[in-house]
Amino acid sequence: MKEIINVNKAKDDYIYIGKKKYFDLSLQNGVLLLGHNNKIFNKSLNQIIKKKYTISKLNNKNLNKDFFKLVKKYFKNAHELIYCTTGSEAITKAIRIARALNKNKTKIFIVNGSWHGSVDQTLFNAKNNLRPIPMSAGIGNIFRDNVKILPFEDIDKTKKILNAHYRNASCILIEPVAASLPIQNRESYLKYLRDFCKKKKLIMIFDEIITGIRTEKGSVQNKYNIFPDITIAGKAIGGGFPISFILPNKEVSVKINKLKDKIFFGGTFSGNNYSVLSSYNTLKFINKNMITKMLKNSAYFQKKINNFCLENNLDVKVYRFDGFLRLIFSKKNINNIVARDFLEVKNRKKIDKFKKYLYNKRILYPKNGVIFLSIMINRDKTDFLIRNICQGIKKYFKK
Ligand SMILES: Cc1ncc(COP(=O)(O)O)c(C=O)c1O
Repeated sequence: MKEIINVNKAKDDYIYIGKKKYFDLSLQNGVLLLGHNNKIFNKSLNQIIKKKYTISKLNNKNLNKDFFKLVKKYFKNAHELIYCTTGSEAITKAIRIARALNKNKTKIFIVNGSWHGSVDQTLFNAKNNLRPIPMSAGIGNIFRDNVKILPFEDIDKTKKILNAHYRNASCILIEPVAASLPIQNRESYLKYLRDFCKKKKLIMIFDEIITGIRTEKGSVQNKYNIFPDITIAGKAIGGGFPISFILPNKEVSVKINKLKDKIFFGGTFSGNNYSVLSSYNTLKFINKNMITKMLKNSAYFQKKINNFCLENNLDVKVYRFDGFLRLIFSKKNINNIVARDFLEVKNRKKIDKFKKYLYNKRILYPKNGVIFLSIMINRDKTDFLIRNICQGIKKYFKK
């Protein structure tokens, strides 16, 4: 599909390209939970202008306990809030914490299919043999040698790799539910990792940059009652402004503050007034009913499309974890990321045609395939999406 460059404006669920209005299924990779240019974003901008706020951290009125209380609703065991600006920055610093608290042990465990942003240490994926493959040029061997990749959801293989390498490792880093393959019921795998970390004194890091807020009960950890040592949050939490957090639990927080050699956390834009104000307004505004409505529409979207595919023998299935979804181009049950990648490569041409079809129906399908609905969604809009997506699937993915 050709690059879209002429975006005129955007409002709620829609992006305007030229004079045409398109339904945006990406919402800036999940950032715009309240939709584009929503009233809370506008309120924050107006406050900044009217009250002549600056980004100087010297005068940061909003960095207060009240704000931390709002954040804690989503991440119950957070004991401290360390401000960062991007997800990648927060991940980099969380790994730094893990090494600092774990005698600088260099190895880290990541899970195939988890995405942690533009971080040299984690920018790897793997095929079935789990050998790290760099996802970018310019990543030195030292990063490859320090990363151990665990298979998605496979406890037996995971056990073997952990036992072989944990003595030289500082942490396990995981997206508790991966946007790359959003499935329910991840408790057993997460619980296994949680117990292993406790036993072997590794730091467990949950990257909840996507799952935070968008999940029933606010986060995967709240939903499953499985709590990491460190949580990373960001994206939707900033309400459209760049912000991310490192949230250590009490034990880690105490250890960080007791360390003789201090950990460096600084960043020019970390905790700047604009982002914190927007985040504060966003968290204050969002309530359970709004999230429930979005979750219900997401479930309805999944169910309707899956029923249609079954009835019409179409080779597609919608996967969903609470508030985000993904179409997988096979009707078989896919439960690992290597199989998903294989299908996406195999169907590349058809997928491109399908995206083009939706574009002509005024729907912008996400480049990375992860579908996010906003809290502005309603049944009519969801039906519009379902209707067009079903027709597109029927056209290109008939068995
Ligand atoms: C789960 C997850 N972690 C980390 C990141 C990296 O965040 P950023 O792009 O803000 O650096 C992303 C971004 O897509 C993400 O989805």
